Amino acid sequence: MRIDVPAATGIGYSMAKKQSESKVTEPKAKPTFEPRIVVFACNWCSYPAADNAGLARMQYPANIRIIRVMCGGRVNPAFVLRAFELGADAVLVSTCHFQDCHYMFGARRAAENYERLDNIVKLLGLEKERMRLEWISAAEATKFAKVIREMTEEVRKVGPSPIKPNGKPQPLPDRIEETTVA
Ligand code: FES
Repeated sequence: MRIDVPAATGIGYSMAKKQSESKVTEPKAKPTFEPRIVVFACNWCSYPAADNAGLARMQYPANIRIIRVMCGGRVNPAFVLRAFELGADAVLVSTCHFQDCHYMFGARRAAENYERLDNIVKLLGLEKERMRLEWISAAEATKFAKVIREMTEEVRKVGPSPIKPNGKPQPLPDRIEETTVA
């Protein structure tokens, strides 16, 4: 049997097939993985940056769920681990620049916590692409969009988190309320 594809399709090919192979099957589309990224964003800097990026219609992937915190220093390592436990593929902690932190040492505290977390995450066998700390001021909407684009792309490459509950993604909560450690 001869299958001719009209030139108008732009494919422009024809192929001959034996009668026994008359069933033409479409190639299966590769399943695409869309990471779920939790962003802990400081109320005074990174959260407005995200807002401004939206207002300016900057393009970035819709793979993030933002959790607003009053200061980056408020993000206890337990929050991040809980996010992974609930099905996040990656976590971004985004704070003010050190000198801009409204609570003096909060952004520095966030950096210290991140260092501790980095070691724990390595012990858990998670790839380094799954966690990131950034300093993004309210005026840096472009940086916010860029970081989200980069992170989404990197996590797409490493694939789903190996510590999803039951190996299945769970609906992401808007808030992680059950974490009791302050
Ligand atoms: Fe933004 Fe402290 S107020 S990191």
